[in-house]
Amino acid sequence: MSEIRRIFSANGQPFFPVGGQAHNQSGQSAQQSEKAFQAVAELHGNTLLIPVYWQQVEPEEGRFDFSVLDGLLANARRYRMHLVLLWFATWKNGNMDYAPNWVKSDPARFKRVVSAAGLPLWVLSSHCPANLEADRKAFTALCAYLKAVDAQDGTVIGLQIENEPGIMGSDRDYSPQAQADFDRPVPAELLHRLQTAGSGRLYDLWQAAGGQPAGTWAEVFGSLAGELFTAWSIAVYIDRLAEAGKAVYPLPMYVNVWLHQNWELAGESYPSGGAVRNALDIYKWFAPHLDLIAPDIYIPDSRTYESICATYAREDNPFYVPESGSWGSNAWLMFRAVADFNAIGYHCFGVESIFAPDGSIRPEAHIVVDSFRCLAAVSALLLKYQGTGKIHAVVQEENLGAQMIPLEGYLGRVQFGPRPWRAQDEGGEPRGRGLVIQAGLHEFYLVGDHFTLTLRRKLPSGGVAEPALSSTYFHQPMHHTLSVDEGHFDAQGEFVVDHRRNGDEISRGFWVEPALGVLRVLLCD
Ligand code: DGJ
Repeated sequence: MSEIRRIFSANGQPFFPVGGQAHNQSGQSAQQSEKAFQAVAELHGNTLLIPVYWQQVEPEEGRFDFSVLDGLLANARRYRMHLVLLWFATWKNGNMDYAPNWVKSDPARFKRVVSAAGLPLWVLSSHCPANLEADRKAFTALCAYLKAVDAQDGTVIGLQIENEPGIMGSDRDYSPQAQADFDRPVPAELLHRLQTAGSGRLYDLWQAAGGQPAGTWAEVFGSLAGELFTAWSIAVYIDRLAEAGKAVYPLPMYVNVWLHQNWELAGESYPSGGAVRNALDIYKWFAPHLDLIAPDIYIPDSRTYESICATYAREDNPFYVPESGSWGSNAWLMFRAVADFNAIGYHCFGVESIFAPDGSIRPEAHIVVDSFRCLAAVSALLLKYQGTGKIHAVVQEENLGAQMIPLEGYLGRVQFGPRPWRAQDEGGEPRGRGLVIQAGLHEFYLVGDHFTLTLRRKLPSGGVAEPALSSTYFHQPMHHTLSVDEGHFDAQGEFVVDHRRNGDEISRGFWVEPALGVLRVLLCD
């Protein structure tokens, strides 16, 4: 049993945000956000992640205009959804595209990162106090506004500070100010933390670089010095924003991460200074006002996907996924994130992309829509049972025909494929995926697609009970059922039966389909 730190809450209760993130430009107006809300509604989601742009809310220095935010809040309330706002400001994907024009056009005051070749980059420098001060003023103005207009309703449940921060184009800032910082000794607190930790990724990197107890960044971290120095500088910068914002309105706050998926070359294949695995400890130690660090996971292969989950799901870091693919790249793996890594919320990016131009769901997006609907359908159970070992992911890996599920008192076997009797030619074969949740010894809840579960009772002797073949012509060894019901959870978290299965409908096992909601199976001795 592991303690789940629920960062998000709604109406004073722990909350599992599930849904989508809008495209980058959908937060420009209430009207342009409409499709994103519709898309989250299609997912049966409860939360939309949508940007707020520094350049829009502070078009002139010191003049704030939050009228667009009013429209977003009104839409959210109309759709009965919550919002996580994404503060696109100093950094957006390792550049400064969303800074206001008065910042962009005054490089003497708002200093930019300078590359090793001496070229100014399209990135604001974290070593320039004026940048931090300007961003901090705007961010706290946003927090103050939210407090004034939303504290009562609690529509906004969290804030992402910046978006995939870091430097694209260089491993670090080589400007005179940054160079002076780089040549200073590594902060004693960082070295003390490393020594105390005695293990971990950063510790290992430090040891590999010689384990110097003190020195400049280059002396202590060798070839990774530029990236780690940048991570430290950006973590401190963002923490100041979080600290100031929370002093005004203490919402949950986090940063997201552009993971390295290609070359591990900071500043080239991902922004240098983001909270990638090498730098995660630095963010945890130097950005204590952040509630969590969240990876954006588009990775389609299960091995890498799981290693990312394992990296970010730490005791000191609740695991949250603000972005994943909206066209099916990894929609079956999300069940592992919630079952095996206790993800406290999950979203797909560019949620509007689920729609074809005629408003229908794109064929390739069905796997995403269905997966999110399944997750949303059992969010009440996730809140209750994550961390208890009672939630099991069903994931059809390539070439996998069946999966055994370890259950208390029962053997569970998942057979992948369409439900018994369903014609094979009803379109392409989606991957089998979903969840099996054992709420009590004889009480199971299933959601998902393309799998059928059969259950057999384990005996204290170590064997299994005789199969109950109630229908002699179907040889699916099964245990006795009390009831098998398709249904849904109401607002109070109570299960409501929509259709009872029996007879032929249970003799070959318990199949799931997203449109059929949650399947509750009650067995008896
Ligand atoms: C990750 C970024 O965080 C998003 O804002 C967006 O740019 C996507 N990448 C695009 O795939």
